[in-house]
Amino acid sequence: MMMMGLVKWVNLFIMFHLFAATKPIMASSDSSKFLNLAKEPRVFDWMVEIRRKIHENPELGYEEFKTSELVRTELDKLGIPYKYPVAITGVVAFIGTKKPPFVAVRADMDALPMQELVEWEHKSKVNGKMHACGHDAHVAMLLGAAKILKEHEKDIQGTVVLVFQPAEEGGGGAKEILNAGALDNVSAIFGLHVAPKLPIGTVASRSGSFFAGSGFFEAVISGKGGHAAIPQHSIDPILAASNVIVSLQHIISREADPLDSQVVTVAKFQGGGAFNVIPDSVTIGGTFRAFSTESFMQLRQRIEQVITKQASVQRCNATVSFLDNKTFFPPTVNHAELHDYFQSVAGSVLGDDKVTDIQPLMGSEDFSFYQQVIPGYFFLLGMENPAVEHLESPHSPHFKVNEDALPYGAALHASLAANYLVKIHQDSPVVVKEKHHDEL
Ligand SMILES: *[C@@H]1O[C@H](CO)[C@@H](O)[C@H](O)[C@H]1NC(C)=O
Ligand SMILES: *[C@@H]1O[C@H](CO)[C@@H](O)[C@H](O)[C@H]1NC(C)=O
Ligand SMILES: *[C@@H]1O[C@H](CO)[C@@H](O)[C@H](O)[C@H]1NC(C)=O
Repeated sequence: MMMMGLVKWVNLFIMFHLFAATKPIMASSDSSKFLNLAKEPRVFDWMVEIRRKIHENPELGYEEFKTSELVRTELDKLGIPYKYPVAITGVVAFIGTKKPPFVAVRADMDALPMQELVEWEHKSKVNGKMHACGHDAHVAMLLGAAKILKEHEKDIQGTVVLVFQPAEEGGGGAKEILNAGALDNVSAIFGLHVAPKLPIGTVASRSGSFFAGSGFFEAVISGKGGHAAIPQHSIDPILAASNVIVSLQHIISREADPLDSQVVTVAKFQGGGAFNVIPDSVTIGGTFRAFSTESFMQLRQRIEQVITKQASVQRCNATVSFLDNKTFFPPTVNHAELHDYFQSVAGSVLGDDKVTDIQPLMGSEDFSFYQQVIPGYFFLLGMENPAVEHLESPHSPHFKVNEDALPYGAALHASLAANYLVKIHQDSPVVVKEKHHDEL
């Protein structure tokens, strides 16, 4: 560790001499400048307006056509080039030298299939669709970062790649962005999620496993239907499914390491429609979660075995499907080095006491697909202001965004990206030397 420190110090020294003349605004001591910029009414009001427009017109995964159009219109106005379409509705924009190194920042764009119950001026205009997970705010913040960074484009030591991603809510949009090759040469990626229960002006995250890996399963358990009063002539799938559900609970209680948090929940049970008829079949379904790919795959295998074998005890057949592979999200694992980097940048933007570590969460995020191939870091951005109001959890029909959080998200995106490019130059003297040579 001491060695590392010395190497970094030496690199910093080299950096200072090479780049002293350019004085980049994004040197970490100046990071609060981005926050001040993002809070200026011309940036803040503009982000609020964008967020409200998107909120009024929520679109589900891979259908974000108007949202994507709005993003492109604003990028055009800012003079920022982009690739479109990427993964159907996605937009990938570029600020800086358009040359390596590349660092990416991501916002998800999709809404949820649910009815908004908040009564306000900018309520969803689409029945049965709502931005109840804050992705409208995520898009506005990334555009805010784009605006700030564009104003300092000459200081950017490489390229910031802005990823406006479709279909986070179970659609695996992140995977499609990767499949499109849009992030091939990117050195690191950052993403955030608004958090209604964290104080505004604070962020929280952790090194390593942060969100669980998540999968869904569905099983059809088939028997033989018949008269409920003559059970000996039927094969009862309701009883079989009931035993399956009880047995599934023993995977966690008896097979999983108690210190390795996991969940199996059966959330769906469909079968039977009459008081006196044993049905032919029953469909059950649910979700499973784990923090390592190994535990996750073990759960997947055991869920299949337990369902088919337990069903056979009651003479039923069962078929299990895992709704591959779009609904499978790997665990969200934050890169350890990026954790240190994040703490230092977020500390300089917000103040060190505003940056906290939190426990892992059983929820999941498709940002994890990026982290499988690129060092990535995900964090939560506080929105709570108890003096104003109590905010409901994401996916609630009463979910609200505290728009005062927008400048914090925009400034963090901009600072994390711009400073990371500076860090790459600091950490790899070879690149710096080449650059120096080019300039000669
Ligand atoms: C990534 O870099 C390689 C080699 O420099 C280049 O051929 C390729 O076009 C780049 N891909 C993207 C998406 O920029
Ligand atoms: C289960 O599958 C076997 C083999 O296909 C079949 O013979 C049997 O009738 C099935 N049982 C039920 C209850 O569907
Ligand atoms: C789907 O996921 C399973 C397990 O995660 C994997 O074995 C399989 O290759 C995947 N299929 C596709 C088409 O990606």
